[in-house]
Amino acid sequence: MSDRLAGKITIITGSGSGIGRASALRFAEEGATVIVNDIEKGGAEETVGLIAEAGGQAIAHQADITEPDQVEDLVARATRDYGRLDVMFNNAGGARPESTEEMTAEAYRTIMELNLDGVFYGTQSALRVMLPQKSGCILMTTSGAGLGAVLHLAAYGMAKAGVVNLGKSIAAEYGQYGIRSNVIAPGPMGSPGFMDWLATIEGGRERFETEIPVRRLGTPEDIAHTAVFLASDEASFVSGIVVPVDGGISSQYPTPQFALPDA
Ligand SMILES: NC(=O)c1ccc[n+]([C@@H]2O[C@H](COP(=O)([O-])OP(=O)(O)OC[C@H]3O[C@@H](n4cnc5c(N)ncnc54)[C@H](O)[C@@H]3O)[C@@H](O)[C@H]2O)c1
Repeated sequence: MSDRLAGKITIITGSGSGIGRASALRFAEEGATVIVNDIEKGGAEETVGLIAEAGGQAIAHQADITEPDQVEDLVARATRDYGRLDVMFNNAGGARPESTEEMTAEAYRTIMELNLDGVFYGTQSALRVMLPQKSGCILMTTSGAGLGAVLHLAAYGMAKAGVVNLGKSIAAEYGQYGIRSNVIAPGPMGSPGFMDWLATIEGGRERFETEIPVRRLGTPEDIAHTAVFLASDEASFVSGIVVPVDGGISSQYPTPQFALPDA
């Protein structure tokens, strides 16, 4: 256990699984007290159990980030139990690929509510606590699909592109009040949600990995390490950026890549 986040009261949405869980574990390892949020109570409690086993501090709080009242309660839990909120990590999200012309209006609304509206509500509720504190750090999870087009993810990409702008807007608007805001853009991660989807793709994992410059999928821990840095005081002059954590995918110009044989 280290102390890069010692005493920081942190909410991580969607931390009952995947990237959120890995981040909750890393934050706790670095000394943060984590409020583990998820819509699934069991997942959140399991994460809290893992943190407790490792000697860290965490509590579970079930809430649906698409419901503004539930998000307000989630943030109120931090002030009620701990008197402050230092880090709000708006991480929950997700999508299933679908062609644009086939997507129903209902499916579209669901994607926007989870991936954009929920991040806005989390940010807004956190700001109401952080402003009077005159300090705070807001993190958001976008996606490679929010930086450029990914086939069959148009609505998700729209929502995630909105998250990029929200992250920058908050940095510009609230920096003067001691609040930083940064966005993490994962590439393909081996988290449960993504692996389920990858299993449906021909060539699956191998096909993906040959197209990634570092030749591997990411792991939830890759995102967790980045989030720890951005939440720490080491990043006190870092605000308004989008950090791709994607093994170099977004560095490539989108033309067919003629690679030399592997070294
Ligand atoms: N896995 C990837 O490859 C990848 C790539 C790019 C971006 N992302 C983004 O990273 C974030 C985390 O994804 P993951 O891969 O860890 O997914 P995951 O499915 O493993 O975990 C997401 C968690 O969010 C929870 N959740 C879903 N809806 C919720 C709601 N309304 N309120 C609260 N919690 C809710 C789920 O129960 C789940 O525990 C998402 O925003 C996702 O869009 C993931």
